[in-house]
Amino acid sequence: MDKKIAPVSSEVKKITTHVLQEMKVKHEKISMLTAYDYSMAKILDHAGIDIILVGDSASNVMAGHETTLPITLDQMIYHASSVIRAIENCLVVVDLPFGTYQGNSKTALDSSIRIMKEAGAHAVKMEGGREIKESIDRILTAGIPVMGHLGLTPQSIYKFGTYTVRARQEEEAKRLLEDAKILEEAGCFAIVLEKIPADLAALVAQELTIPVIGIGAGNGVDGQVLVLHDMLGINKDFSPRFLRRYASLYEEMLGAVQNYIEDVKRVDFPNEREQY
Ligand code: KIV
Repeated sequence: MDKKIAPVSSEVKKITTHVLQEMKVKHEKISMLTAYDYSMAKILDHAGIDIILVGDSASNVMAGHETTLPITLDQMIYHASSVIRAIENCLVVVDLPFGTYQGNSKTALDSSIRIMKEAGAHAVKMEGGREIKESIDRILTAGIPVMGHLGLTPQSIYKFGTYTVRARQEEEAKRLLEDAKILEEAGCFAIVLEKIPADLAALVAQELTIPVIGIGAGNGVDGQVLVLHDMLGINKDFSPRFLRRYASLYEEMLGAVQNYIEDVKRVDFPNEREQY
């Protein structure tokens, strides 16, 4: 945790979907985190992250909504374009928000084209399996790389009713494995598996030739993703078992702001050296 900040190597490779495929073959784990703004994305890219996900979790983290459903395509494009301006090496994947791809492949294609054109993103991510295959096919024919997302799919929270572990039962596990194969055959370059048993996730990673990235899916997969604000401890209200906190930024930021307030109130800030 107390690691020194390493200088950025000039050898750093630009991450493409092709590089991710090579990493899977070489059993090199893939690191992925969310980011929604320029400043955070700059730190992640400097640190050497492989993939930044501009997740629709921005709806919760940045806007304070209870679910991911309210965020709009325009808002996702705003977040994604801020991230894109910050990065040099990592791959940027952007979530297609709820209502912009389900049920109509033409709408799905139009939404993806807007994300690629207006934000300059590198790929899109979509939640679901066989039921969105037609949309995936259409997006892929336009040359836009697609990442799948199975298991706990937060855009369907009102269908499932809870955020508990998915695919514990044999039938759901079988369907998830079939869906993963359908996504691979359709041409997805990678899949996220969220909150499913570790054994099942490892089996999917073993059966698929494309990278499988887990969140709450154990370490038998090809990479890991977390929501940045959760792993940095900025958001203290979310503590699932799978989350490891790498910092306690809520407390640190709170302390800094309290110190500032105190300094202002007692006319300690600015001092002689901090004025003109
Ligand atoms: O929106 C998001 O942050 C995600 C991750 C949890 C995978 O989809």
